[in-house]
Amino acid sequence: MMKPVKKAVFPVAGLGTRFLPATKVMPKEMLPVVDKPLIQYAVEEAYRAGITEMIFVTSANKRMLEDHFDKSPELERELEAKGKTALLEIARSVAPSDMTIVAVRQSQPLGLGHAVLCAKQVVGDEPFAVILPDDLIDAEVGVTEQLIRMREKNGGGSVIAVQEVPREDTNKYGIVSLDKDVIVGMVEKPNPSEAPSNCAVVGRYVLESSVFDALENTERGAGGEIQLTDAIAFGLNQKQTYACRYVGLRFDCGSKVGLVNATVHYAKKQGILA
Ligand code: G1P
Repeated sequence: MMKPVKKAVFPVAGLGTRFLPATKVMPKEMLPVVDKPLIQYAVEEAYRAGITEMIFVTSANKRMLEDHFDKSPELERELEAKGKTALLEIARSVAPSDMTIVAVRQSQPLGLGHAVLCAKQVVGDEPFAVILPDDLIDAEVGVTEQLIRMREKNGGGSVIAVQEVPREDTNKYGIVSLDKDVIVGMVEKPNPSEAPSNCAVVGRYVLESSVFDALENTERGAGGEIQLTDAIAFGLNQKQTYACRYVGLRFDCGSKVGLVNATVHYAKKQGILA
């Protein structure tokens, strides 16, 4: 029987220096898009996909991320006393009672692959999602759910979200080679002249736990970091790995222009901007 996907890993240890001074004290994942921090969009996407255990891979000064998903009795008492039921509902909905948050530390910034490996003990022998909160994707059916559905349809295997990007941007992404929707090759941030395609990995993955063994044996790659792309590429001929051309609108909130565009998009959606 195929195991269900119940856990998601959120690599949130990065310093977010691109957004200084906003991120001098505050984690970049707490940057709001209209009224909700990036991490909450990511966690809600996972929860809507049936995932209940959220694993944050954090570093020093990231306590606020855990606090955000904790109950806030003082705030709730105050809102209740004032009869502000709509706001009370918003405050409570951040932390549904069947959701757990687990934090593990990444004590050295050795890359995305290393961050995911830090979650090995907590994930155990189960398939799991990886969600990069910087990639905010507005979709009717969340992208994580789209990946899980594809995995179920295929009877298992890993699934990775992909999107075509302009050729000159291949050096910003993991790039895949495809045979229909099966990934046959994967390389991290190739130069446009060497890229096998312009089909890029975006920050959503559903992976088999065998990726941990590969990660343990992965040497430093692009940028001197331990890359998740390299570990997945290593396992391609042992396990079927599928690319999912997801339906949704993606904003790269790791960049200022992406964060501003996302803010305008969600503000229009909420009717607070014409
Ligand atoms: C990471 C991954 C890369 C992927 C990208 C998507 O890179 O390493 O393969 O294409 O996320 O956002 P990063 O943006 O963290 O450098």
